[in-house]
Amino acid sequence: MKIFLDTSNVEEIKQGVDLGLVDGVTTNPSLAAREAGKGKSFQDIIKEILNITPGPVSVEVVATDYDNMMKQALKISQLGANAVIKIPMTLDGLKAIKSLKEKRIPVNCTLIFNPIQALLAAKSGAEYVSPFVGRLDDIGEDGMQVIDEIKTIFVNYGISTKILVASVRNPIHFLRSAIIGADVITLPFDVLKKLPSHPKTDEGLARFLDDWKKVSPDGSFPL
Ligand code: G3P
Repeated sequence: MKIFLDTSNVEEIKQGVDLGLVDGVTTNPSLAAREAGKGKSFQDIIKEILNITPGPVSVEVVATDYDNMMKQALKISQLGANAVIKIPMTLDGLKAIKSLKEKRIPVNCTLIFNPIQALLAAKSGAEYVSPFVGRLDDIGEDGMQVIDEIKTIFVNYGISTKILVASVRNPIHFLRSAIIGADVITLPFDVLKKLPSHPKTDEGLARFLDDWKKVSPDGSFPL
């Protein structure tokens, strides 16, 4: 399972890339808004993210009609070879996905909340579909069940569109995505940092270091 960072924050991306855990990045207008007013233009931030990320970077259009979606998509795609165009799940969006596929420009279809939407995006030629699991959980539905159903449908029909699990809130989303066999999960940086943690790991390490003082009272390593 590929791991993407769900952020527009350049420092988080640099740290994630340094850890060797980040395969790509997803951004959206809300994430971009968090970086506004910090002295860099949107275009400069996106160009920097495209430069420092060792894989695909999803950048979302904000137009809602086909013609302007296409104009914005073409501008985004010129910013870097690893740019992926994020298009919302609407009728105009589906039409734009088809046209961008014909131009070999990869699309991540966003705001997916059920398997029907995912199947339509795949049929239109999306490279990725982004189901929002956390927002489904927020309204009392089971976001991960939608991932399971999309996976079944894509396997049924041999669909190569990648399932990109989005709106992730916790490590359980990560675990269930891996068990289902999602292709990609996009994580907020705070969820990424939680993944390696286990209280028994912390407890075990503390005990090892404590015992080590019996071998080397100052804690040094004498080899
Ligand atoms: O990138 C889209 C998605 O991950 C948004 O997540 O936390 O705003 O529901 P969230």
